[in-house]
Amino acid sequence: MKGIILAGGSGTRLYPMTRATSKQLLQVYDKPMIYYPLSVLMSSNIKDILIITTEEDQDGFKRLLGDGSQFGINLEYIIQPSPDGLAQAFILGEEFIGDDSCAMVLGDNIFYGAELSRKLEEARKNADDGYATIFGYQVHDPERFGIMEFDEDKNVVGVEEKPENPKSDYAITGLYFYPKGVSGKAKLVKPSPRGELEITDLNKLYLDEKRLKAELLGEGYTWYDTGTPDSMMEAANMIKSIQKNGDRVICCPERIAHKNNWIDDNELMNSAELMRKNNYGKYLKKVIDKTK
Ligand code: DAU
Repeated sequence: MKGIILAGGSGTRLYPMTRATSKQLLQVYDKPMIYYPLSVLMSSNIKDILIITTEEDQDGFKRLLGDGSQFGINLEYIIQPSPDGLAQAFILGEEFIGDDSCAMVLGDNIFYGAELSRKLEEARKNADDGYATIFGYQVHDPERFGIMEFDEDKNVVGVEEKPENPKSDYAITGLYFYPKGVSGKAKLVKPSPRGELEITDLNKLYLDEKRLKAELLGEGYTWYDTGTPDSMMEAANMIKSIQKNGDRVICCPERIAHKNNWIDDNELMNSAELMRKNNYGKYLKKVIDKTK
């Protein structure tokens, strides 16, 4: 399975913070925002990842993440010339995806939950079986998101983009798993009234074929779409408290890579050395000591 992180967009909602840099490179507590969605793909056991950015921001992402070897993964980069919609990622990434299934996560979405890996494994299995999977999270302002609608057995029977009268309060989060053939499907999506290739319209195509499943992230999960200064601050506070002010680090790509045996102790030590002056580096060192 391949993975895509969509990290483009104009970022105007976060001006002036994003005048000189990309939103997804800004910090959320102790790490750049993009580390969080990257961790989700790595926790899904995905090693081949495409990062889609604007032209002016691509160099910043390359400086931060390089070819991915420090995380034992392969990173590729392409440019989205203008923000023409989330579903466009699969058209831009057609060659990269090839004949594989593909997961996509938005570069500003943060997911956390003890059982998340199990849900991700389930979604991956669905993709192998020819089904798409979306992830639902209960919100108090559903009109701001893509929304899913269910029948009494919790099967998804409808998806709607930012409806005025939402049929549920389950937002469709920015994490999507698709079976092989998603690029071809994305080409069938027509631009919406706001001129974008909507991911919700792509999901509708799968729903019409009864090939759309939903995983609900209930109690025990946290999801943030860090699109505003307040949500960035809220997410940062949540992460700080989970990390017990530095005793541990969550959504840590180096840790996931080490756990998955994609990097060895020496490679992890290189990262720990680089960050030895802070808690992140100390945490990596502890991970190595623990496995000895
Ligand atoms: O966060 C979840 C929501 O994301 C979903 O509930 C919605 O169904 C989905 O349409 C999307 O809604 P937003 O209105 O929040 O999308 P936005 O335009 O803010 O873009 C989300 C992120 O993707 C943002 O960081 C910018 C980036 N982006 C967006 C577009 C349209 C791109 O990189 N390229 C694009 O073409």
